[in-house]
Amino acid sequence: MNQSVFRNRIRSVQNSLRDAEVLLVFAAPLRIRNRDVEYKFRQDSDYYYLTGIEENDGVLVLRRNYSAHFSLPKDKEKEIWTGIRLGKTEIKNRLELDESFDLGEWESRIVGILTNQFTLYHFFGKDKERDSKLLELVYVLNERLREGKFGPQRLEIPNFLHEMRMYKSQEEIDKLREAARITAIGHERLMRETKPGMYEFELEAILESEYLKHGAWGGGYGHIVAAGKNATILHYTSNKSKIQNNDAILVDSGAEKDCYTADVTRVFPASKKFTAEQKVIYELVLQAQKNAIAETKANVEFNTVHEKTIRFLTEGLKDLKFLQGDVSSLIETGEYKRFYMHRTGHYLGMDVHDVGRYFDNGRSKAMTNGLVVTVEPGLYFDPNDERIPENFRGIGVRIEDDILINGETPEILTSMIPKEISEIEALKE
Ligand code: GLY
Ligand code: MN
Ligand code: MN
Repeated sequence: MNQSVFRNRIRSVQNSLRDAEVLLVFAAPLRIRNRDVEYKFRQDSDYYYLTGIEENDGVLVLRRNYSAHFSLPKDKEKEIWTGIRLGKTEIKNRLELDESFDLGEWESRIVGILTNQFTLYHFFGKDKERDSKLLELVYVLNERLREGKFGPQRLEIPNFLHEMRMYKSQEEIDKLREAARITAIGHERLMRETKPGMYEFELEAILESEYLKHGAWGGGYGHIVAAGKNATILHYTSNKSKIQNNDAILVDSGAEKDCYTADVTRVFPASKKFTAEQKVIYELVLQAQKNAIAETKANVEFNTVHEKTIRFLTEGLKDLKFLQGDVSSLIETGEYKRFYMHRTGHYLGMDVHDVGRYFDNGRSKAMTNGLVVTVEPGLYFDPNDERIPENFRGIGVRIEDDILINGETPEILTSMIPKEISEIEALKE
């Protein structure tokens, strides 16, 4: 993204701060995977949202009339091992900050930065060690009242930043479109090439390689490739089973492009056609999904989409004789959860389960333009539930698309990925 996007976000946060308020936003650290091997680095979403910087361990400091950043120092020797660092001067210029320091100056400068600031905004809870150091500092600063100085009196979570992230700008929507485009390449290739006898991890490898090849960072979350009854495990990620002849395969996977991820689920047969039982369940979930998408529009409370979906699926399960009794009681008692145990959607953006409030004073928030959400109803038939006819046990279907709220007309960012049975089966011919 153009650097002005980040500069403008910083300005906008500064304008929302009052006097004597300070916000700290920390970059992600490197984390050890085993011995001296690190996990693949992924920047903290809040920090990236404001800075666009992909380096570890930086800190952005904002007050209404002051901005500063702490970063890894330029260091020729270290840069030979781990890559070029931006350095404080480049960061100061790029983000047009008042000051920019090497991280080595953090300890000595943070005292001055927090002195006489009434409110400290920080995402407490993400990193306990860091929190504990900050709290100790706040305590020490508040011991200096005798000198006429004080430290932060109020510690607050900067939820305003998450409310900003909730509604996507044009640049962000473009990133999500690009993530969707790349995701489609991976999913379609699986639909075409999957055959009985392949292993789930082979499909995972195809997804990751297509995402990387087309400029994404890889998957935005662990790829779920679940064949046969594995599809009834909602967050199945072991991906080790061999695909059998009559399996349907549930693939929940999205490419991540510059910190923005798609989140898509499709189900397709290993051989040329779905079985009759898979078809029945697939059609019910697909209709539920289409109905839910039609409701995903401005001024509709987000939770309404979920409630209507529960009703539609419960009625469908009753018609098919998987559930008996009065639909309202099946819903009230939670009996439907034997088949549908997750929510119909969530916010989507830099994090797959993106930030922002879903309820205001107990009432579901109405959707408005710029919000991006998933719509992902599913039905899961417990492989060991003897109340279910044997030929349906172990079927799991979820269909998930990413929707941009756009007035009355939901815009399906992932609409190019086939989901009609006829389209999917045609790919296999
Ligand atoms: N991939 C996780 C989800 O669909 O929410
Ligand atoms: Mn998903
Ligand atoms: Mn999802």
